[in-house]
Formats: sequence, C-alpha cells, structure tokens
Amino acid sequence: MNLDYIKPDEWKIIEEGFDKENITASESIFSIGNGAMGQRANFEEHYSGETFQGSYIGGIYYPDKTRVGWWKNGYPEYFAKVLNAPNWIGIDVKINGKQLDLNTCRVIDFSRELNMKNGVLTRSFIAEFDDGDSVKIQSTRFLSMTSTEVGVIKYSVTPINFKGEIEFSPYLDAGIINEDSNYDEFFWEILDKIETIDAGFILSKTLKTGFLVCTAMKVELVLNDYIVNIDKESQITDKKITNTYKTEVNSGDTFSIVKYGGYTQGMNHPDAELLNVSKRRLNEAVELGFDALLEKQNKAWNKIWDTADIMISGDIKAQQAIRFNIFQLNQTYSGDDSRLNIGPKGFTGEKYGGSTYWDTEAYCIPFYMSTKDKDVAKNLLIYRYNQLDKAIENAEKLGFSKGAALYPMVTMNGEECHNEWEITFEEIHRNGAMVYAIYNYVNYTGDKDYIASHGMEVIIAIARFWSQRATFSKDKDQFVILGVTGPNEYENNVNNNWYTNYLAKWCLEYALENIEFLKDQFPEDFVRIAEKVKFNETETQTWENVAAKMYFPYSEKHGVYLQQDGFLDKELIPADQLHKSERPINQKWSWDRILRSPYIKQADVLQGFYFFENLFDKDVLEKHFDFYEPLTVHESSLSPCVHSILASKLERTEKAYEMYLRTSRLDLDDYNHEVHEGLHITSMAGTWLSIVQGFGGMRNFNNTLSFDPTIPKNWKSYSFKIKYRDHTIKVFKNHEGCKFYNESDTPIDIIVSNQQVTIQNKDLVVL
Ligand code: BGC
Repeated sequence: MNLDYIKPDEWKIIEEGFDKENITASESIFSIGNGAMGQRANFEEHYSGETFQGSYIGGIYYPDKTRVGWWKNGYPEYFAKVLNAPNWIGIDVKINGKQLDLNTCRVIDFSRELNMKNGVLTRSFIAEFDDGDSVKIQSTRFLSMTSTEVGVIKYSVTPINFKGEIEFSPYLDAGIINEDSNYDEFFWEILDKIETIDAGFILSKTLKTGFLVCTAMKVELVLNDYIVNIDKESQITDKKITNTYKTEVNSGDTFSIVKYGGYTQGMNHPDAELLNVSKRRLNEAVELGFDALLEKQNKAWNKIWDTADIMISGDIKAQQAIRFNIFQLNQTYSGDDSRLNIGPKGFTGEKYGGSTYWDTEAYCIPFYMSTKDKDVAKNLLIYRYNQLDKAIENAEKLGFSKGAALYPMVTMNGEECHNEWEITFEEIHRNGAMVYAIYNYVNYTGDKDYIASHGMEVIIAIARFWSQRATFSKDKDQFVILGVTGPNEYENNVNNNWYTNYLAKWCLEYALENIEFLKDQFPEDFVRIAEKVKFNETETQTWENVAAKMYFPYSEKHGVYLQQDGFLDKELIPADQLHKSERPINQKWSWDRILRSPYIKQADVLQGFYFFENLFDKDVLEKHFDFYEPLTVHESSLSPCVHSILASKLERTEKAYEMYLRTSRLDLDDYNHEVHEGLHITSMAGTWLSIVQGFGGMRNFNNTLSFDPTIPKNWKSYSFKIKYRDHTIKVFKNHEGCKFYNESDTPIDIIVSNQQVTIQNKDLVVL
C-alpha cells in the first residue's frame, strides 16, 4: 500500500489533515536544505509522539567503530556516520501554562506545504486543548540559499477563544543522538555555551574527528506586527540553552517569534573565529529581516529553476514529482565546494552513512553538468582527485602496488568505510565509474584541459589497478577478473562479471588513448605527471595486453553477454512470475536463496549498455534488454531509470513510462515503504535522466549534441533546458512535434532524430 497522502500540485508538496502515522514520512518528504546544511521537517514545538529528529551539516561526520561478526583483513576500522547536529529549530510553546504538543491536543485544519519555487516550508493548524482553549498556529521556515550558514523560522500563535498567556521557549540543544549508531555513543563534546541578551551559542566538537561547530540562535518577538521587547528567563543546562519569553495576549492577537539560527563550522573558518562569525551571520540576517531574506531566497531559487526546471503538461503528479526531484538535488548539493558530495540520503536521514557512493559519478554528474555551470560537475570530479592518495592507500592495504588506486565504495574523506566483504573488496566496478565520469565530463563540456590538470593521474592509477586485478587464465588464454560483485548486489563473489570486465577493458583503453593525447597536446603536463606518478612506458604494454585479451562470458544460444560465469545454470524464471507476497525479495527471502536466484537487483549488464550505448548496435541492445529486464526486480532505486532510458532508446515508450513512474514518485508515494528513513537523493538524478536522456533522447557522442524526442501517451507536452558548452538550449516536445530554442548568442548544430539541424542564436526551430 502506498502512502499516497501528498496532494498533487505543480509547485508545492502539500499534506492536509493531521495523521500521526505520517509524521516520520513527512519529516523526510518536507526536508529542507541549502547545500551546506539541511534538516528533516521536524516540528519546532515539542512533539511527544514518534519522530525522527535530524539536522545535518555538509562534511561533518563521525567515524563510528565498525561492528561486524567476523573481522577480515582490509576492513575499514570505522563506518562514517552522517551526524545528527545540534538542534537549533526548537521552540517550545505553552498556552496558559499548557504545553503545545500535537500528539496530545486536538489538531484541526492541519496543513503543511513545501514550496519548491523557493524552498519555504510552512505549516498551519488549530490546536484545541482539553479545557477548550484554541489557538491558531502558523510557521514558516527556510534555510537561506544566499547566506548558507543561516536559516530562519517565523512562528505565530493566535488565541482564538481566550485571553491569556503565551510562552515561547526557543532553545539550542546539543544533546542530540544519532538513530544510527553502532554502540549508542554520544558523538559530540560540548565545549561552551554562550548567552547574550537575545542570542545563544553552543560550541561543540565531534568526538574523534574534531569538527568544531557553533550552533546559534537569535530571536525577535513580534506582537501584532510590532517588535516587542520582553525580558527572558534563561535556563542553561549541560547541553542546552533555553530562553523563555512570556506575554499576555487577547483573543485574536498574534504573538510571533522570529528565530534566526544555523551553524558555522570549522571546515569553513578558523576554530577561534567560529563564534564571532556566527554572531556576524545572525546580526546580518536580523538586520536584513525575515522579508528581505525571503526575497533573496526567491531570487536564488528563481535562478536555479530558470535552467533546471522541467515542465510537464497533462500530468500534474508527474510535474510535481520531477520538480520534487530537481528541488531535492539542488537542496543537497550546490556545487561550489569540492569537499562536499551527494549522499544517497542527502540531508534527509542517516541511512547509508558516508556521503559518497559511485552514485555521484554514474547518476548525478549528468544532472549537475547539464543544469549548472560546468564548474559544478568539475568540483565533483575534483573531490575524487583530491582523494586519490587515499584511494592508492586503500589499494595498498588490499595488496596492490605501484600507485594502483581503488576508490572506496562509501566514503566521507577518501577512506573506505564500508564493511561488508562482498562489497568493500568485491564491488570494484565503482573504480570504473570514476573514469567514466571523467570521460563523460570531458566529452560533454569539451574541457580537455581537465585531463591534463587532474584527470590523467586518476586514470593512470585506476588503469594500474585493473591491470593488477585481472588474472591471466592459462586455460582460457585470456584475462579474467575473479571474485567480484557487480552492480547487481544479489550476486556476490562471482567470476567475470561482464560489466566489470568491460569497464576494466574500457578504462585501460581510455588510459592508453589519453597518454597519447597528453604526449601530443600537453607534453609538459605529460612529463610532470609521469614524474609525479612514476609512470613507466612499459606499463602501457601491460595495459594493452590486458585490454586486448579480456575475457567476456557470452552465450551463443541466447546471443547475449552473460552477467557472469555460470549465469545460465540458474533457473531463468521471469520476475513477474513471482507471487506478490514474495516481493521485495530482499525482505522476503533468505540471502542464500537470493544468491541462487537469477534475480537482478539493478541494471548490471544493462548498466554497461547504458554507459557505452554508442559502442553497440541497437539490435544487440534490444537482445540484452529482453534477456535481462524480465529478470530484474528493481530493488535499488537506481534501477528503473537506466531501464527507462534504454526502453526509450528501443522506442518502447510504454515500458519507459512504466519504469519512469517507479523512479519519479518513489519517495512521494513511498513505493518501498522506507521514506521515513530519508529520501533517495541520488536516484532522483535518475528521474531527470529518464526524461532528458530517456524521453528526450539527449546524447552527446563525437562532440555533437543529439536528441530523439518521444513523449508518453498521457502527457500533453514537456520541456526542459540544458546547458551544453557555451549554449543553453530549450527543448519542447508534444504529440505534434518538437521545438528547439537556442538561448545563446552563437548558433549551434545539433542532430534531431538523425537529421542535422542548425539553430541560429536566439532562434527557434520547429520540427
Ligand atoms: C545500490 C548501490 C548504491 C547504494 C547507494 C545500493 O542499494 O545497490 O548501487 O550505490 O545503494 O545508493
């Protein structure tokens, strides 16, 4: 059963009516963020029912000690936890001495809205107490996109039927814990609590990692639109600062508190400066005031939406969903800090400790590359470049040498922090995604300098890894790659996963190509890099040899590459023959049964066909799609989008649409019954891909941008914009045809459904 309580709307996420069952789900869905910090949509006032409190700061983590049954050499010592940070949003409210708590009072006309146009979260409701007192509450909150260390809340109380006392107790609470913690440890050390007339600050430090954070609040009180001064009573306890402000109000009066708050943190300022910067940020915010901050917020989001928006007409739920996904991706990563990355849950939950998976390289980069300036995608690449030394160390721990690098499966700072052997040691295909992302970026942006400035070092280190990881099989007279897990994590420790072998071969060839490219185009850089990484020309012979003699399992009978050796020994019963009660198999079946089954968690062979579509004929793609898709259970949120794109390519728009629906409203309709844990941020990029590369058919091979637009039956039209090199192109498609508008000052040649088309500057082409 899907939750399905979110009201359809083009620009807003709306919840109407109060249902305690939905609290934790809504806390995820209504999350807000600004790239530097983010928080779940917890209520400001006390809530005694089930809730999952979460507030997160980009880059701040805790290395929780690994808990495993059987320790294996090479395991990481820790599992990085996305840390729940001190809570600055809390405002306890008392009405005539009674605590406002939606779990205990009667809640009428509850409505919560997240406006995706500007990232503003609002809530309004009437609360009725047992003694008959009724109040109307209205709250508005956002995290500033322009001053990213600051957020603001305006919280108003209006007595409906009584005259009496309203009490606000805004607080800072550093006594927060992580839901996800291996040994139930407390992750913060409280260093100082500072209190001024209208502000409070808590300086705290993460244990072990030593990240210093200053959490701050400053308040203004407003009675019927006039700022009022009210003496406060302060209470400072071990980990908390609470200020209490009381006033007498008449029925119909509105008493509001404006709470400015947020974090400054040691990654951005010297530790000794944190408190001062915090004070400055809050003063600046208060000086600007709520309305001016909001105005800036509107402008910042307008700018984002100007290129990122996708408009769908004729299907309001699809419209809402795609905007939700684009919105969340922008809340999670804004692209100006190469130390940050895109966690699978972003700032919306704790699951998947660590911030960075191959998801970024394989799924997210195209989204940021096409909707933002190229520096944003470049920053994501530089993040990995800066972690190359750690990737080399990681490979050394596992027995590799001579500068071979294995990037971690999950990381915060470049160190591996995943500790399931079949993934940590075996899911090595992730290394290929690092190189694929460089290729994708250079191919799309034309920024070949990147190879010389950063990319080549990564490409060499990864080529070294593959050449060492492949084993020469005398029996086959070919190179094999043994003991791996492909993207399909429902198979472990297999030999010759086709996707991994293919990617390894491709990486080696790409390395060889770029060595020649550098020698030719950037000879000085070539010499510099060769010296730095101790590159030896004889290495290329090994790379050539391994690439040329790579083994690929293939079935003549079926005319397809096999996912791995022995795949045909399985009982190939299509997934649609499984009874509903057995799905999802990862919750219903034992692990050994899953491993023996033919069922595929997410695109594996087909992931390779997606990456390298240009290297295969369409009929070969079709054969593989028809062989593997029926066996795929799509139990990773990263799965449907790849299948949707390939189905579009095969002109199977219905199938593409079916897959698209599974990705686009995954969280809004809670398909996997887990939205309460947080949102699936990285797969949201997949939804964007399903439209732009799927229905829109956008590709970029041989320095040419091409489209092959199709449209789902029940949409009237859709449009999107992409930035491509110096151009911004708007694509519109309906059932009659398509239009391309070139917003830029220079013409561009593109290919539309195999025909070359020139679009003049600021011109529209209708096809
Ligand atoms: C998927 C991985 C992915 C991870 C984080 C897993 O369920 O199988 O491919 O990297 O989730 O999104």
